[in-house]
Amino acid sequence: MTLTLTTAGESHGPALVAIVTGLPAGLRLDRGAIDRDLARRREGYGRSPRQRLERDEVEVLAGLRHGLTLGTPLALVVRNRDHESWAWGMSPWPPQGEPAGKGTSPVTLPRPGHADLAGALKFGHDDARNALERASARQTAVHVAAGAVAKALLREIGIGVTSRVLEIGGEPTPERWERATDDARAARDTLGGVVEVVAEEVPPGLGSYEDKDARLDARLAAALMGIQAVKGVEIGDGFDLARRRGSEAHDEIGPGLRRDTNRAGGLEGGVTNGEPVVVRAAMKPLPTLMRPLRSVDLASGKAGEALVERSDVQAVEALAVIAEAAVAWELARAAREKFGGDALADLVGAHRAYLERIRWARG
Ligand SMILES: Cc1cc2nc3c(=O)[nH]c(=O)nc-3n(C[C@H](O)[C@H](O)[C@H](O)COP(=O)(O)O)c2cc1C
Repeated sequence: MTLTLTTAGESHGPALVAIVTGLPAGLRLDRGAIDRDLARRREGYGRSPRQRLERDEVEVLAGLRHGLTLGTPLALVVRNRDHESWAWGMSPWPPQGEPAGKGTSPVTLPRPGHADLAGALKFGHDDARNALERASARQTAVHVAAGAVAKALLREIGIGVTSRVLEIGGEPTPERWERATDDARAARDTLGGVVEVVAEEVPPGLGSYEDKDARLDARLAAALMGIQAVKGVEIGDGFDLARRRGSEAHDEIGPGLRRDTNRAGGLEGGVTNGEPVVVRAAMKPLPTLMRPLRSVDLASGKAGEALVERSDVQAVEALAVIAEAAVAWELARAAREKFGGDALADLVGAHRAYLERIRWARG
């Protein structure tokens, strides 16, 4: 038994959709909780006006009845309210009438740091919009919705997942983040940052060392790296471990199987060890600059400046929420693989029986 997630949707198309399979029946979902995570994703000091335009509410088309999962595929939809202005430009069918609104002329000046050039070449697009619309981080809205479902599942077995921002623009002090963002905006530039996700009350034994695809550290790294603009992932003390001696790098096991440190970030051999799972992701500065980078026109071959489209100065707070969803998703998937069950009660019972077998009780 595993969880799967398939998504579709363009940034300015009619909607984003997600299909989740492998959920047990009887899991209670709260529309408010999903919408709150969607709202958290839009927040942050460095976001563009689009975030105020989009309201982002989840619609459920299948797999749920009266708030309880049916154990059948769950279909989630988040509509793009902005699509109205792009109705001609992003019409799925040949558009009717005269060109109107946004997206009516082809994008031929690819932005460095985006998928514009690579996507246009790979798929043979004359209009880089055909690449950038899907490469955009807008699709993370449905990943966050699916992450909220994963968090509901994890809560049933006592696991909580939270996230926070550690740095914006190289600045570790929260009081300075707005100032750094304002300075970058004034310079028509952008910033990146670092976020951390922590999962508490994770039982030992999620993931496996049997093969590289089974390692939960590898799966978490791939899940975080799968988020747009993430260029580095750390588990526990990560890169810093490389600079220490072994005596300062591991977590000694004490009475009651307790550890005084958690340098491993809750994972040893690709398997959770009962300590909190701690992962970090590094985000590069956003690639669309209001002071555009150099590019070359794909139609004429002439040097030019990259497309300037409404864009965030930084989106590190949003990344924290998306990373939280990604980690929750991977933990829920690993919990599903370990505890199985068609009904939620089967899963909860298997989790309880397992903790009894390994005599694992905390607190
Ligand atoms: C929450 C979030 C918001 C983003 N917003 C923007 C943006 O407004 N402008 C921009 O140029 N890039 C933005 N990005 C980054 C691009 O989507 C990303 O850099 C691009 O798709 C290329 O992918 P890569 O950086 O992973 O190679 C955002 C990323 C995230 C996670």
